[in-house]
Order: sequence, then C-alpha cells, then structure tokens
Amino acid sequence: QVKHVAVLVGSLRKESINKKIALALAKLAPSSIKLEIVEIGDLPLYSEDIDVTPAPAQYTAFRNKIKAADAVLFVTPEYNRSVPAALKNALDVGSRPYGQSAWSGKPGAVVSASPGAIGGFGANHHLRQSLVFLNIPCMQQPEAYISNAGTIFEESGALTERTKGFLQSFIDAYADWVMLQTRTPK
Ligand code: FNR
Repeated sequence: QVKHVAVLVGSLRKESINKKIALALAKLAPSSIKLEIVEIGDLPLYSEDIDVTPAPAQYTAFRNKIKAADAVLFVTPEYNRSVPAALKNALDVGSRPYGQSAWSGKPGAVVSASPGAIGGFGANHHLRQSLVFLNIPCMQQPEAYISNAGTIFEESGALTERTKGFLQSFIDAYADWVMLQTRTPK
C-alpha cells in the first residue's frame, strides 16, 4: 500500500531552490511512496489567542493534511543559521492543541539546501532538535546538506547527474525508512 508523504518546503519564494528540489524528489520517489507538498505560507503566525474554538480555518486544514499523511519530509533553506520562521510556525501550528499534535509518530527526514558552502547545516540540525520533541522519528543517514545549490540545475531545469544520483539514493533510503517505521507490529 502506497504511503503518503507530506512535504514541507521551508521557503515561500516562487523560484525557491528548495521547492525545486522537493518537486525533483517527488519525481524520483519509488512507487512505494507518494510525495505531495503541503503549503505553509497561508498559516497565520501562531498565537494561543487565535487558536481557540473554532480554530482558524487554515490551521484546521493544515492539521488535517498532516494527520492524513503517513510520513513527513522537510526540504528547507537556512535563514541566519536556523530554520526559516514560516517552517517553524508550521511546526508550532501542527503541534497544537496540546495533546493533539498532528506530528507524533510520523517518520520524517530533512533535506537542507543553500547556494552557500555549508548546505544549510545549521537549519537542518536546529530542525532536528524540534523533531525530537515532536516525536518524529527522523532518518539519520544519508544526511542531505545540498551546498552550492545554485549550480545543481542545468539551464534546461534538469538536475545535474551528480545531484540527481544523490537525491535518488536519498529518496530510496527514505522510502525504506517510511516502510520500516509504518510496518504493523506483530
Ligand atoms: C538567507 N540565506 C542564507 N544562506 C545560508 O546558507 N545560511 C544562512 O544563514 C542564510 N541566511 C539567510 C537569511 C535570510 C533572511 C534569507 C532571505 C536568506 C540565503 C539562502 O540560502 C538563499 O536565499 C536560498 O536561495 C534560499 O532558499 P530558496 O528560497 O532558494 O529555497
């Protein structure tokens, strides 16, 4: 049975490199998983003052999409060595109401990408800190820090062979991780 993966992209930019990587991963994914981007740009900044009954419609729709997914995949840039605010906001929205987190137990993985040399390492690991608390079992290996990400797409829009090969091995390993984590216990 195909597992549905909610993909969260940490950039709201139309021409986002990370969004392009997310779309490329969706194409490369083996048939055991299906990747779909869940938009986070319309979520009001989290406040307990607005998260009352009825919750904002955007919160409810987002929480339902995460709850309906079997797994989650984060593809994000690094902002000031950390997680972009829009993505952290989405994590916060999905984690509430208290005791009803949409995230708990969904297998996850993190891809970070930057035009710089460090490949978004800071964002990648700050994000992992929250995933521990949110009980998202996060794939350890392979890690994915895509550096010099301004050069990974050809003019045609196709991925360079080297990056395509890496992303293929990453998404294959992630599919195995999702299967392992979502298997029915004896
Ligand atoms: C950045 N950028 C950036 N890059 C990086 O490697 N480390 C960093 O700490 C930051 N900080 C940062 C802060 C802010 C507010 C912005 C807007 C950008 C540059 C960033 O990697 C670059 O803009 C990427 O292209 C953003 O990813 P998308 O939008 O292409 O997916």
